[in-house]
Amino acid sequence: MMNVEKIRKDFPIFEKKKFIYFDNACMPLRPKVVIDKINEYYTEYPACAGRSYHDFGTRLTDEVANARDLVKKFIGAKKAKEIIFTKNATESINLVANSFKFNSVLTSDREHNSNLLPWQKFDHDVVKSKKDFSFDLESFSDKVKNFDIVSMVHTSNLEGYSLPVKEIIKIAHEQGAKVLLDGAQSVPHKEINVRKLDVDFLAFSGHKMLGPNGVGVLYGKEELLDGMKPFILGGETVSDSTYDSYKLEELPHKFEAGLQNYPGILGLGSAAKYLMKIGRNNIEKHENMLKSKIDIEGVEKIGHVGESGIFNFNIPGKGAHEVAMMLSASKNIMIRSGAHCMHSWFNSRNLEGSARASFYLYNTLEEIDTFVEELEKIKKL
Ligand SMILES: Cc1ncc(COP(=O)(O)O)c(C=O)c1O
Repeated sequence: MMNVEKIRKDFPIFEKKKFIYFDNACMPLRPKVVIDKINEYYTEYPACAGRSYHDFGTRLTDEVANARDLVKKFIGAKKAKEIIFTKNATESINLVANSFKFNSVLTSDREHNSNLLPWQKFDHDVVKSKKDFSFDLESFSDKVKNFDIVSMVHTSNLEGYSLPVKEIIKIAHEQGAKVLLDGAQSVPHKEINVRKLDVDFLAFSGHKMLGPNGVGVLYGKEELLDGMKPFILGGETVSDSTYDSYKLEELPHKFEAGLQNYPGILGLGSAAKYLMKIGRNNIEKHENMLKSKIDIEGVEKIGHVGESGIFNFNIPGKGAHEVAMMLSASKNIMIRSGAHCMHSWFNSRNLEGSARASFYLYNTLEEIDTFVEELEKIKKL
């Protein structure tokens, strides 16, 4: 069991303001350990890593290596060099789309724009969900033999539904396709082990797992990353160059062009360590429990109905933004409204959008009660 009251003390913002934060799928709050780590970089060794052989430079090089190691452990990768630091999950997916050699790609019909638009210039098809919005494994099995790579969301940012990724990966591999998982919404909330899953690539963001903004990760199996050419070139990506040629660096550096977001990388390492200490199994259980306590009639639930940490809904007769603004104005309850960067999903169903409350480790049952009370009031207006 998690001690939520104790966890809340790790987040300085709770001492400063009174609010209910249910916009965690967009961006969660940050714990002191992450803020302190960013501060430590700027106040103690604000230099460049991997190139300067002085006090600050060598300290930072060690700190970046340590952060990479923490992230490796966090997702169960085999080697630290399989962890590539990027700007965010979007850049990680674009990296694969632009550097991996393939002709055709299969996605699901519930992809975030970040895992849809980068693939549209290729031979691309979509696996449609079943009537209950769950993943259609049969349709996937029929289609996958025609594709080189499968790129699918692990846990949806719509309503937190998780695709059966173990089966997807097994079937894809049997048919000779590689698999990229968009882990932006899964990695922060559930245990994930890339080796057990045997996934080829995994993309996720620092800012959704309590880390700083502007840092993300691409995990890739060493042999695949080794065979790929970077799509951004420059400082750090090469070990040598002449006026008309260059020699690429080894992994992971060939994919990390230019000076990096060092405070971001270090903060991400601290966030991974913090989450490992609490245990994502505990976090997942807590979020499921919170969502299961939402008991309200006359609200239209969006997407697949089942265990998850996201409640996506519409109140008949009220716009999603209207609901979000009313919750904000009454009890400072922060939720997200709109198409959640899944325009394709909403357009294909002639829906304008929805309201989304997403939970994390510091949310409480009292907050859920207040949320439900406020929704009851809004419903009656
Ligand atoms: C499922 C999913 N994939 C990708 C992204 C994009 O992440 P980022 O903004 O870090 O690139 C998001 C962000 O909301 C997401 O929810």
